[in-house]
Amino acid sequence: MTAPAAFPGGAELFRLSTEVAHLNHGSFGAVPVPVARAHRSLAEEAAADPDAFFLGVPDRLAEARGRIADRLGTDPEGAALVTNATEGAGLALDALRLTPDDEVLVTDHGYGTVVAAAARRARVVTVPLDPTLPDEEAVRKAVLAGLTPRTRVALLDQISSPTARPIATPALLADLAERGVTTVVDGAHAPGMLADPLAGAPDFWFGNLHKWGYAPPGSAVLAVAAAHRGRVPAPVPSWEDDRGFPRAVEYRATADYTGLLAAPEGLDLIASLGADRIRAHNSALAAYGAELLAELPGLAPLPADERLAMRALRLPPGLARTPAEAAALREEIAARLGFRVLIWAWPGGGGIRVCGQIYNTPGEYEGLVTALRPLLDGR
Ligand SMILES: Cc1ncc(COP(=O)(O)O)c(C=O)c1O
Repeated sequence: MTAPAAFPGGAELFRLSTEVAHLNHGSFGAVPVPVARAHRSLAEEAAADPDAFFLGVPDRLAEARGRIADRLGTDPEGAALVTNATEGAGLALDALRLTPDDEVLVTDHGYGTVVAAAARRARVVTVPLDPTLPDEEAVRKAVLAGLTPRTRVALLDQISSPTARPIATPALLADLAERGVTTVVDGAHAPGMLADPLAGAPDFWFGNLHKWGYAPPGSAVLAVAAAHRGRVPAPVPSWEDDRGFPRAVEYRATADYTGLLAAPEGLDLIASLGADRIRAHNSALAAYGAELLAELPGLAPLPADERLAMRALRLPPGLARTPAEAAALREEIAARLGFRVLIWAWPGGGGIRVCGQIYNTPGEYEGLVTALRPLLDGR
């Protein structure tokens, strides 16, 4: 197995602590130095003349949205800037005016806060997906088999968090649309990771810019098909209410908008470094990490998608069966070994997810495997 080459200048673009190896970009992202600089300069501008800054915010948000929509390949009038994926989920579901009897289909790979957003509003039906399902076709069939006559909405991950699986593929979205099911896609990981993040034209799609899009935390997008736009509620009464979607949704009174206004810088940086080049590098690195981890006794790689910068493996049975056990193992790996990875819980035994990013090097994954071996030994 040949180690991929490091991304020239990649590590220097970030100010990550050298105390720990950051192999978990997928959870909270990381902000590159030039984006952090732009963010800071906006904060300084706001501090210097708050009136001038805040009075200009709605128009500047619209301008930032235009740049972001352009990079994502979507219509700026059909997208609103929001603070995170979880908020995007709530707004999408509120637009649908669900009643407690409506069913929302989710899978057991769905993200906790996003599924909880659905459970607050309707009856959630969870489709179990065996993490070892071999391919997209098997996933598609399993989801379709979970539909009932009362399914109104399918709320599906574009890429699942624990298992790094594509679920809401264009083929599945087309099948659901044909059956009259409204599709809401959790694209938290898509911007910056996928070449065509809005593929398949779901009714609603939300994605984080602060994960793979190099934006400051609190930056996300909600994209809405034309038929639903007029029904998306503003999260709070807005001075832009008379302008409707998307301005009323993104201008939520006095708040910190500096992250959202700096967000286009993240996508611009990706474009200037070469989006395809970053994707190829990150995915090769994650694949390298997964191949090394698979050498540890009891670790079983899950089916992988070569486009993605994340890979998942099952841990030996009995480890990380519950969220508390998973969190304890994650913290032990960080504190004792110095590696940040995602440990996910699953009935019977959870798994580990590693990510690849331009600041990572092959040596970090090699070090992880060397350090994990004795820790897992005998568990
Ligand atoms: C698939 C998925 N959806 C939603 C989220 C939640 O993102 P946020 O905390 O920005 O709402 C995450 C975060 O890791 C995720 O992986």
